[in-house]
Amino acid sequence: MRDLVNTHEWKALQSHFEVIRDSHMRDLFTEDPDRFNKFSVSACDVLLDYSKNRITSESLDLLVALAEACDVKAEVQRMYAGERINSTEDRSVLHTALRLPKTESLVVYGEDVVEQIHAVSDHANAFVNKVRNKEWTGYTGKPITDIVNIGIGGSDLGPLMVCEALKPWQQKDLNFHFVSNVDGSHIAEVINQVDMQTTLFIIASKTFTTQETLANARSARSAFLTSDAAEKDIAKHFVAVSTNAEAVSAFGIDTNNMFRFWDWVGGRYSLWSSIGLSIRLSVGNENYDALLDGAYQMDRHFAEADYKQNIPVLLALLGVWYGNFFNARSHAIEPYDQYLHRFAAYLQQLDMESNGKRVQIDGSEINYKTGPVIWGEPGTNGQHAFFQLIHQGTDMIPADFIAPIKSQNAIGNHHEMLLANFFAQTEALMTGKTLQQAESELRDKGIEEAQIAALAPHKVFEGNRPTNTIMVNELTPKALGSLIAMYEHKVFVQGKIWGVNSFDQWGVELGKQLATAILGEMQSGKVGVHDSSTSGLLEHYLKSQSK
Ligand code: F6P
Repeated sequence: MRDLVNTHEWKALQSHFEVIRDSHMRDLFTEDPDRFNKFSVSACDVLLDYSKNRITSESLDLLVALAEACDVKAEVQRMYAGERINSTEDRSVLHTALRLPKTESLVVYGEDVVEQIHAVSDHANAFVNKVRNKEWTGYTGKPITDIVNIGIGGSDLGPLMVCEALKPWQQKDLNFHFVSNVDGSHIAEVINQVDMQTTLFIIASKTFTTQETLANARSARSAFLTSDAAEKDIAKHFVAVSTNAEAVSAFGIDTNNMFRFWDWVGGRYSLWSSIGLSIRLSVGNENYDALLDGAYQMDRHFAEADYKQNIPVLLALLGVWYGNFFNARSHAIEPYDQYLHRFAAYLQQLDMESNGKRVQIDGSEINYKTGPVIWGEPGTNGQHAFFQLIHQGTDMIPADFIAPIKSQNAIGNHHEMLLANFFAQTEALMTGKTLQQAESELRDKGIEEAQIAALAPHKVFEGNRPTNTIMVNELTPKALGSLIAMYEHKVFVQGKIWGVNSFDQWGVELGKQLATAILGEMQSGKVGVHDSSTSGLLEHYLKSQSK
């Protein structure tokens, strides 16, 4: 068992924290006017300014020493090479291989995975071109107008987030729908909107056993068959993306219409695999390739750059600094780009399913904090909702502010206004407003002293609230690919430091098992043995049902 908190590097950070905890970033900026140059880095068209963090050069040295002690670089090489670093599932972790160009080769346990990946890509490319060019038609000969991706978790969040982010690149005569929730309202609303003769359903499930996805897929199929369509027409309207050919075939989908991938692609890392079929259909193969290329560039940067110049490593270390030393329990994601409105939701799964763990890889219990709560909404909307708490609440909430320099929609001065807010927020969070400033502002307005004394404390902003500013020139497919890979690698580094397996997700299993048992009880009307709350609720439900 590795005793992280008793390592020399951890203890050095703890002592350093005692020194730095009371310093204010305002003073750090006054003392060192070169902070921006010192604490910002550019790579893969991404600028990271991390100067508005509660760090000095010494903090950075100590954090980097921690990364070195945790052997992050060696683990990156192990992952890239296809070693089975996902030990609890005995699997390799090779989403980075999905981004390798055709010209490369990567032999893992005797097989060239790059060759396999590109063979599947060619299959998907050809299909995508047919649909987009209207050569693939529905059973009545009409071209496809609506694409419905049925999946959940990684088989939904990644494709949905990317399709939304790249809307300006979307083929305009295709409508995209994403159904994930087992709540029948989700599929019903989509079924009500589409014409079955021109709809293509993509059943996206790595395992093809996920209860929600199969229920939605079955309902879609029965809605299809209760329109004028017949069984034989399913082949033109249902395709599958999965690693499980047997289950796909048992469901009734022709395996020629199945786009495969491999168990070494984790669900939350799967948008780069065939799970990205809906993205390809939306933006076309060329743009999807640009997305992959952006991620590939970030993969190279992550593997090659020194820790102090390495964007994912820096982001990870700052997260550890706040989570483990300042006791920050959540991390906000603030994209100042409406197209990134599902980015925080996507990152929730990526980060929380990866690092929401309580034991180390060897099974020993952890005595320090691991993954934070990830949350956020696009700016400027967030400013009018929850920013109050980030500015003046009692918790420290580190935040990533993300924005493109160029807008996809140059309407009036909207983008300038958006970016003015973007810059202003991180400045305000860092600088804050002192009591003296608050009082003198009120005085300037001619307010009486008694009222100033009552009001001023409410107008104080402590400041010293950490933010990372992340900018890309434009939210292109390539830039988006780099941004996503940047976060994947950040999560990887944190997982390595905390010593957890970032690639399993056993924590979702218990609820699934209990739901299966409870569903049986609900259907039979016989409540099994539970705690009194669960039994009471089930009986309440069954009684109400029978009325
Ligand atoms: O609920 C957990 C999970 O296994 C995720 O990790 C995964 O992305 C999701 O379910 C969907 O799984 P599948 O693609 O196998 O349907």
